[in-house]
Amino acid sequence: MPRYHRLGNLPKSRHTQFRKPDGSFYPEQLFSTHGFSGPMTLMHHLNLPTSVQEWRDLGPCGVKLLDAEPLRHRHLLTAEMPAKGDAISGRIPLMGNQDVTWNQAKVADQMANFFKNAECDEILFIHDGSGELDSMFGTVPFQPGDYIVIPRGTIWKIRFDSLPVRMLTFESRGEVTIPKRYRNNYGQLMEHAPYHERDIRPPTELKTFDEKGEFLVVVKARNRYTGYIYNYHPFDIVGWDGFTYPWAFSIHDFSPITGKLHMPPPIHQTFQGHNFVVCSFCPRVLDYHPEAVVIPYNHSNVDSDEVLYYVNDKFGSRKGIKEGSITLHPLGIPHGPQPGAVEASIGATKTEELAVMLDTYHPLYLTEEALKLEDENYWKSWQVPNS
Ligand SMILES: [Fe+2]
Repeated sequence: MPRYHRLGNLPKSRHTQFRKPDGSFYPEQLFSTHGFSGPMTLMHHLNLPTSVQEWRDLGPCGVKLLDAEPLRHRHLLTAEMPAKGDAISGRIPLMGNQDVTWNQAKVADQMANFFKNAECDEILFIHDGSGELDSMFGTVPFQPGDYIVIPRGTIWKIRFDSLPVRMLTFESRGEVTIPKRYRNNYGQLMEHAPYHERDIRPPTELKTFDEKGEFLVVVKARNRYTGYIYNYHPFDIVGWDGFTYPWAFSIHDFSPITGKLHMPPPIHQTFQGHNFVVCSFCPRVLDYHPEAVVIPYNHSNVDSDEVLYYVNDKFGSRKGIKEGSITLHPLGIPHGPQPGAVEASIGATKTEELAVMLDTYHPLYLTEEALKLEDENYWKSWQVPNS
């Protein structure tokens, strides 16, 4: 989606005869994530992509959301979560709505099988691991602090250099894009955008596997996992070109926009989803008006839920936060710095905070798993004693 890219070998013209040395065809496939009008990629395989040996039902994977919870600010502590499962089976859904699901993971194992989310684009945020995302489109190396955007329908498998690894996965029912206001009519990122095409890392290497055997792709769709068994390696593409492929972007490459007076959260926006945004709060100089209040004012996000994941514990406007904390400030009630935070911030010239924010236009509902991580006294942290 970020720009046109190609890897491997392709015929000079699309939809023309592209033959192997033995004279047979490299089967062609159009891979499109929004009908025939959205971003798409053309690819040639070694094998027929429609050929499947078997499928089996691997069971339900729907998320049960709690819909009868009273309104209040929430704080979840993920630091103590035990390591469990692989990058898919270890996902613990903490909250969600009709547009997006927030999954938390402390990954214990490498993936044994391949994975495809057939219904959602995914944004992975790698808190503290490194490794490589292998996919049908090639390999995307990653480091701590990387976001990896994976279009729906992509077959992939992630390899970590060491474990455990903490990561988030946002599953998006709608398309994940770069905000439109960052781009010109040609799709190019403009000068005021907080990142540049050079910061976007598409697959670097296309590895084509000409292997026969039994390969399981776990497909997530319709609230179930379905196992698709192929008799050839699913990374069998010899060449592709187009706009749909997985790509990485480091939170450390986000260039914060700063100002004389406090700048609102949209300046931190990184990705756009349907009815939600993802923002990056990064180290930066603070507001430079001589009498500036350098942390946020109280604000009523009357129409949106605001969730922050604290990648470190240096968030100036919030007390009681630990690395790995999540705060959910729901729509309808104001939030802001805790008592004393404004006074304590006066004179500060920079912040070292690092956080990922999800803002949604529809309410987010927690899961039972989220309640197990909750600091139930968080809502009291703004209380001012009676005098
Ligand atoms: Fe806020």
